[in-house]
Amino acid sequence: MRHGFYFLFFLLWDGRLLEGSNVERQLMKDLLTNYNKVLPVETPNTSLVVSFRLILFRIIELDERNQALVTNVEVVQQWNDIRLKWNASDYGGIQQTMIPYDSIWTPDIILYNR
Ligand SMILES: *[C@@H]1O[C@H](CO)[C@@H](O)[C@H](O)[C@H]1NC(C)=O
Ligand SMILES: *[C@@H]1O[C@H](CO)[C@@H](O)[C@H](O)[C@H]1NC(C)=O
Repeated sequence: MRHGFYFLFFLLWDGRLLEGSNVERQLMKDLLTNYNKVLPVETPNTSLVVSFRLILFRIIELDERNQALVTNVEVVQQWNDIRLKWNASDYGGIQQTMIPYDSIWTPDIILYNR
Protein backbone atom coordinates (compact mmCIF):
# COMPACT_ATOMS: atom_id res chain seq x y z
CA MET A 1 0.00 0.00 0.00
CA ARG A 2 2.71 2.44 1.05
CA HIS A 3 4.90 1.51 -1.94
CA GLY A 4 2.05 2.19 -4.33
CA PHE A 5 1.63 5.65 -2.90
CA TYR A 6 5.30 6.59 -3.31
CA PHE A 7 5.34 5.34 -6.89
CA LEU A 8 2.40 7.55 -7.81
CA PHE A 9 4.05 10.49 -6.07
CA PHE A 10 7.21 10.01 -8.15
CA LEU A 11 5.25 9.94 -11.40
CA LEU A 12 3.50 13.19 -10.56
CA TRP A 13 6.77 14.93 -9.79
CA ASP A 14 8.65 13.81 -12.87
CA GLY A 15 7.86 16.76 -15.12
CA ARG A 16 9.45 15.18 -18.17
CA LEU A 17 7.15 12.19 -17.98
CA LEU A 18 4.06 14.39 -17.85
CA GLU A 19 5.30 16.67 -20.61
CA GLY A 20 6.22 13.70 -22.81
CA SER A 21 2.80 12.15 -22.55
CA ASN A 22 1.12 15.51 -23.26
CA VAL A 23 3.14 15.96 -26.43
CA GLU A 24 2.34 12.41 -27.46
CA ARG A 25 -1.36 12.96 -26.82
CA GLN A 26 -1.26 16.11 -28.92
CA LEU A 27 0.53 14.25 -31.72
CA MET A 28 -2.09 11.50 -31.75
CA LYS A 29 -4.86 14.13 -31.79
CA ASP A 30 -3.24 15.96 -34.73
CA LEU A 31 -2.69 12.74 -36.67
CA LEU A 32 -6.19 11.41 -36.21
CA THR A 33 -8.14 14.65 -36.68
CA ASN A 34 -9.60 14.50 -40.19
CA TYR A 35 -8.13 11.03 -40.69
CA ASN A 36 -10.41 8.81 -42.73
CA LYS A 37 -9.91 5.11 -43.19
CA VAL A 38 -9.45 5.00 -46.95
CA LEU A 39 -6.46 3.37 -48.63
CA PRO A 40 -3.46 5.56 -47.70
CA VAL A 41 -2.13 6.41 -51.17
CA GLU A 42 -1.53 9.68 -53.05
CA THR A 43 -3.67 8.89 -56.10
CA PRO A 44 -6.37 6.26 -56.60
CA ASN A 45 -4.30 4.30 -59.12
CA THR A 46 -1.25 3.95 -56.90
CA SER A 47 -0.83 0.58 -55.25
CA LEU A 48 0.12 0.10 -51.65
CA VAL A 49 2.75 -2.49 -50.73
CA VAL A 50 2.00 -4.43 -47.57
CA SER A 51 4.71 -6.74 -46.33
CA PHE A 52 3.52 -9.77 -44.48
CA ARG A 53 5.59 -11.85 -42.10
CA LEU A 54 4.71 -14.89 -40.11
CA ILE A 55 6.84 -15.57 -37.06
CA LEU A 56 6.73 -19.11 -35.78
CA PHE A 57 7.03 -19.23 -32.02
CA ARG A 58 6.25 -22.78 -31.13
CA ILE A 59 5.15 -26.08 -32.58
CA ILE A 60 2.51 -27.22 -30.17
CA GLU A 61 1.49 -30.49 -31.71
CA LEU A 62 2.28 -32.58 -34.76
CA ASP A 63 -0.39 -35.09 -35.67
CA GLU A 64 1.21 -37.27 -38.36
CA ARG A 65 -1.79 -39.49 -38.91
CA ASN A 66 -4.10 -36.57 -39.75
CA GLN A 67 -1.28 -34.47 -41.22
CA ALA A 68 -2.07 -31.61 -38.87
CA LEU A 69 0.33 -29.17 -37.27
CA VAL A 70 -0.72 -26.97 -34.36
CA THR A 71 1.51 -23.91 -33.94
CA ASN A 72 1.79 -20.61 -32.16
CA VAL A 73 2.54 -17.79 -34.62
CA GLU A 74 2.56 -14.01 -34.81
CA VAL A 75 1.56 -12.10 -37.95
CA VAL A 76 3.44 -8.86 -38.66
CA GLN A 77 2.14 -6.57 -41.39
CA GLN A 78 4.00 -3.46 -42.47
CA TRP A 79 2.97 -0.59 -44.76
CA ASN A 80 3.44 3.11 -45.25
CA ASP A 81 0.53 5.43 -44.41
CA ILE A 82 1.18 8.81 -46.08
CA ARG A 83 -1.12 10.60 -43.63
CA LEU A 84 0.65 9.40 -40.50
CA LYS A 85 3.74 11.59 -40.64
CA TRP A 86 4.92 14.54 -38.60
CA ASN A 87 7.87 16.82 -38.04
CA ALA A 88 9.64 15.45 -34.96
CA SER A 89 10.93 18.89 -33.95
CA ASP A 90 7.34 20.10 -33.58
CA TYR A 91 6.64 17.30 -31.07
CA GLY A 92 9.62 17.29 -28.71
CA GLY A 93 11.68 15.01 -30.96
CA ILE A 94 9.24 12.09 -30.86
CA GLN A 95 10.22 9.66 -33.64
CA GLN A 96 7.63 6.97 -33.02
CA THR A 97 4.31 6.62 -31.26
CA MET A 98 1.51 4.14 -30.69
CA ILE A 99 -1.93 4.51 -32.19
CA PRO A 100 -4.99 2.37 -31.51
CA TYR A 101 -5.31 -0.30 -34.18
CA ASP A 102 -8.94 0.48 -34.91
CA SER A 103 -8.47 4.21 -35.50
CA ILE A 104 -6.43 3.90 -38.72
CA TRP A 105 -6.65 2.09 -42.04
CA THR A 106 -5.37 -1.48 -41.77
CA PRO A 107 -4.91 -4.10 -44.49
CA ASP A 108 -7.84 -6.41 -45.08
CA ILE A 109 -5.66 -9.51 -45.01
CA ILE A 110 -6.96 -12.57 -43.25
CA LEU A 111 -4.98 -15.64 -42.34
CA TYR A 112 -7.13 -18.68 -42.94
CA ASN A 113 -6.99 -21.45 -40.41
CA ARG A 114 -7.63 -24.67 -42.27
C1 LIG B 1 -2.85 7.68 -62.46
O1 LIG B 1 -3.89 8.07 -63.32
C2 LIG B 1 -3.71 9.40 -63.86
C3 LIG B 1 -4.95 9.75 -64.66
O2 LIG B 1 -5.71 8.63 -64.99
C4 LIG B 1 -2.44 9.41 -64.70
O3 LIG B 1 -2.26 10.71 -65.23
C5 LIG B 1 -1.25 9.03 -63.85
O4 LIG B 1 -0.09 8.94 -64.65
C6 LIG B 1 -1.50 7.69 -63.16
N1 LIG B 1 -0.43 7.43 -62.23
C7 LIG B 1 0.19 6.27 -62.17
C8 LIG B 1 1.23 6.15 -61.10
O5 LIG B 1 -0.08 5.32 -62.89
C1 LIG C 1 10.46 20.86 -38.98
O1 LIG C 1 10.19 21.94 -38.13
C2 LIG C 1 11.33 22.79 -37.92
C3 LIG C 1 10.95 23.81 -36.87
O2 LIG C 1 9.62 24.26 -37.02
C4 LIG C 1 11.74 23.42 -39.24
O3 LIG C 1 12.89 24.21 -39.05
C5 LIG C 1 12.05 22.30 -40.24
O4 LIG C 1 12.35 22.85 -41.50
C6 LIG C 1 10.88 21.35 -40.35
N1 LIG C 1 11.27 20.21 -41.18
C7 LIG C 1 10.51 19.78 -42.18
C8 LIG C 1 11.01 18.60 -42.92
O5 LIG C 1 9.44 20.30 -42.47
